[in-house]
Amino acid sequence: MVRLGLGRDGCVLAFGGGATLDLAGFLAATYARGVPWVALPTTLLSMVDAAIGGKTAVNTPHGKNLVGAFHQPSSVLCDVGYLATLPDREVRSGLAEVAKTALLEGEERLSWVEENARRLTGRDPEALEEGVLFCVAYKAGIVEADELETGRRRILNLGHTLGHGIEAASGYALRHGEAVALGLIAEARLAELEGVAEAGFAQRVEALVEALGLPVRLPPDVTPRGVVPYLSRDKKTEAGRPRFVLLEAAGRVHDERGIPVPDTRVVEALERLAG
Ligand SMILES: NC(=O)c1ccc[n+]([C@@H]2O[C@H](COP(=O)([O-])OP(=O)(O)OC[C@H]3O[C@@H](n4cnc5c(N)ncnc54)[C@H](O)[C@@H]3O)[C@@H](O)[C@H]2O)c1
Ligand SMILES: [Zn+2]
Repeated sequence: MVRLGLGRDGCVLAFGGGATLDLAGFLAATYARGVPWVALPTTLLSMVDAAIGGKTAVNTPHGKNLVGAFHQPSSVLCDVGYLATLPDREVRSGLAEVAKTALLEGEERLSWVEENARRLTGRDPEALEEGVLFCVAYKAGIVEADELETGRRRILNLGHTLGHGIEAASGYALRHGEAVALGLIAEARLAELEGVAEAGFAQRVEALVEALGLPVRLPPDVTPRGVVPYLSRDKKTEAGRPRFVLLEAAGRVHDERGIPVPDTRVVEALERLAG
């Protein structure tokens, strides 16, 4: 950008998936102390998640997203037409975030995703557009109220506390959405074990994840116990202990700040994903 002579009146156009958006957004946040940027997401995951909310970051060998900035894009342009060339595995990875949003939003949305799972995995453009629209609207609403994640925005971490641990424990062999899908199941199980959700909730989440063509079991080289050390490395910890955002049911968050849970319970919940 320096060589190109970009001035403070310039603008960064970020065209690509979440990885590209994270990097380009971070460059825009830091170059000349900040220039505007526009997000043009081309993967489903980046349309429903990475492009919205203004979190930008670069990865370092010490961990994901440790170096980053909040910098809102001036606009976000989502065109599901780009998804025509996206590999199936990437489409499904994005659908995990769609499932997360539906779980957070409530029963009506969750039923819609359950009923339309086949259209979504078959990349029916109308279904994908509806999914993108409701995810963007939901996330934008939460972020608007709590841009810097001091409160309510934390609920967007649903499935991610364990998901990030699973992703790291797999050596990043899993796609982000695949790890989140597993995280959603295990956190639903955790909610059952904590007496927060009714029995059967984890089964419903698992059936949804499966219908969306996402994994419901850990890869063979990842054990429930093996995930635990990665949880305390997550930056969203307080005093080194992760806090879990748990659902009582679709659309009903138990405690928006998240609750701490003993490691033994966490392992028990992760057992749900074993073998
Ligand atoms: N900033 C945030 O709030 C936020 C939120 C979620 C995820 N992320 C980050 O986003 C990244 C994951 O994003 P992603 O899932 O989009 O992955 P990605 O950016 O790695 O893209 C996945 C693959 O798809 C290819 N691709 C992109 N668009 C394509 C298209 N239209 N057709 C064919 N191929 C295409 C890419 O070249 C890449 O190989 C992670 O690094 C994650 O940390 C950030
Ligand atoms: Zn995510």
